[in-house]
Order: sequence, then C-alpha cells, then structure tokens
Amino acid sequence: MLILGIETSCDETCAAVVEDGRRVLSDVVATQTEVHRKYGGVVPEIASRAHLEALVPVVAEALDQARVRMDGVQAVAAVHRPGLIGSLLVGLTAAKTLAWLHDRPLIGINHVEAHIYAACLLREALPFPCVSLVVSGGHTSLYHSAGPRRHELIGATTDDAAGEAFDKVAMLLGLPYPGGPSIDLAAERGNPHAVEFTRPWLGAGSLDFSFSGLKTAVLYHVRGQGADARRRRQALTDRQIADVAASFQECVVDVLAGKTLRAAEERGAERIIVGGGVAANRRLRERFLREAARAGLELLLPPMRFCTDNAAMVAGLAYHYAQAGEFAPLDLEARA
Ligand code: KG4
Ligand code: ZN
Repeated sequence: MLILGIETSCDETCAAVVEDGRRVLSDVVATQTEVHRKYGGVVPEIASRAHLEALVPVVAEALDQARVRMDGVQAVAAVHRPGLIGSLLVGLTAAKTLAWLHDRPLIGINHVEAHIYAACLLREALPFPCVSLVVSGGHTSLYHSAGPRRHELIGATTDDAAGEAFDKVAMLLGLPYPGGPSIDLAAERGNPHAVEFTRPWLGAGSLDFSFSGLKTAVLYHVRGQGADARRRRQALTDRQIADVAASFQECVVDVLAGKTLRAAEERGAERIIVGGGVAANRRLRERFLREAARAGLELLLPPMRFCTDNAAMVAGLAYHYAQAGEFAPLDLEARA
C-alpha cells in the first residue's frame, strides 16, 4: 500500500511516499532556515507563506522520485496537530484537496506520534511495547508506547522543550541559527565538565522535565549577576563558548538519558525509542547508545534525516491508521 504523506507543522515543507509503513520510496524536505535566519527564530506568518510556495513542487518531487502518480497512491496523510496553525493549514488543506480530487481516503496524523514512528521506518518488525522519548523544538515527552497508535504519556516538560533550550542557549552564546546543530558543533571542542550546571531532576521519581532554570543558569554564567552584570559581560573566547556549550549539552543529555532509562526500568520495557530533532544531537546519540547497551536495552534511534521534521514518518505511521480503518473526514481541523 502506497501512502503520500505531507508535513508542514513548522518550518520544513515535506512530502514523502512510503510503502506498507516501511519502505521509503521518496522523502523530500524543503527547509526554510535561510528565510528565518535573520529573525533568529521561525516567524509563523512567513513560514505559512513559504509553505504555500514550496508545497506543490515538493509534492510533485516526492511523487516523481517514487515513480508514481496520484492514481497509484492509496491514501493521503497529513499532520494536522500540533504545530503552527497557519503552517498546519497549508499542508492539511493540500492533503484534503488531493484526497478529494483523486477520491482517496484522508488520514490525519499527530506530529509527535510521527516522531516516535520515525524509529520504525525501514524495519521489518514493529518494536512495541517500549518507552519512547520525543525531544524536539516543541516537545520533551516520555511515553509508554503499546503500539504505533497507542502512547501513554508518563513524563513531560513543565516549561521549555529540550530543542527550545538548545536554541535559546545558542542565542545567548552568540552561535548561529539554528541553535541546536550549532551547540552540537561548538560542544565538540569543549570540556563537558568545565561548568557543572545543576541537573534538573525535579525530585526523586519524577519523570517530568524542566530546562528553563538551566537556561537561566547559563545566562548568569555568561553575563554574571548583580549590579555589575553589565560590566562583567565581556566577549567570550571561543574556548569558553565551547566549554559552556559542551557543559550545557552534557547536563541536558544526562537528564534525558537518566529519566528515559529509569522509565524503561520501571515499566519493564526492553526497548527505547528516541525521536525528534534533538535526537540528531551527536552527544545524545553516543550517550543513549552506551547507556542502553549497559542496561541491556535495545535502542531505536532513527537515522539523522528521520529525526528532524520529515514526511516519511508521517506516511509510514499513516499505514497503521489505514490498516485500522481510521480515516479522517474532509472537514478535519488543524489544531495548534
Ligand atoms: O523535530 P524538529 O525538527 O521540529 C519540531 O518538531 O520542533 O526539532 C527541531 C529542534 C530545534 O530546536 C533544533 O535546534 C533541534 O531540534 N536540533 C538539535 C540538533 N538538530 C536539531 N538539537 C541539538 N542537536 C542537534 N544536532
Ligand atoms: Zn518535529
């Protein structure tokens, strides 16, 4: 079964064709990074307009690369929540239009569920039950996952998402947009124990996350505190920037890995899935690989290109909705 997937929840315009939930026949991503760079973040109105311009060529390219036409596609799937409302509407409306014109069923997909499913692409067997961690620009959530469509939330952020913390700390350090990959790169040359930031464990047993205090700690470390803060705010050397980036990253990874492994132990899970843009972080991948091996757990870490936003994870997950006969009406609404 061939499914066309569309993803436009934030600032990447994505389309993909996936066969039977596994075989990725095409996976096209048009990024808007350059458009938003000068603002230091995604500007929602500009993102929607850029999706409008990119979407038709991106869908055409995804069909071309998969060597199919719409009459060879059995269903059309789109992310309808959560995300930037204007951006979601562009992809969802396009999917509805294609479904209606070609008389194909529509499938509405949750972006966070799709990030979990990214780890299942290209695999023979589904890895459930497992504990899943989604770390992206908008989410830091832990789930106990019973199947591709069944996720019980067992921990979440009480403030900033992990990716948001990476982006904001990068800005504090004067590193280029987008922040996550810049911290990843800068940290390579730094000492992860140069600054021992307090780990936000939030009390024994908590599976929730909080990164806003850490962000403030980085701010104070960089700028100093108190009345003479302005005077003490000097240009940091490259060495200091690398050290703070590495120390911040180590702190985030400690907490993410610590809580995910503890959740797996508590739930008696044998597998862990990690997904979302922050799962592309090299230090995070290294640490999860090492710690999962030490705990005797199987780790499912999507290849980098399936960690950040893409439509292959959407078309892949949609297959399981189609198998269950869960289709969406053409008046399906987008939800921010
Ligand atoms: O999943 P994603 O592409 O979009 C959302 O659903 O939000 O995640 C984007 C987030 C951004 O905050 C970005 O800075 C972060 O993922 N990110 C990274 C890395 N690559 C992307 N964070 C840390 N290290 C990376 N290598
Ligand atoms: Zn995402």
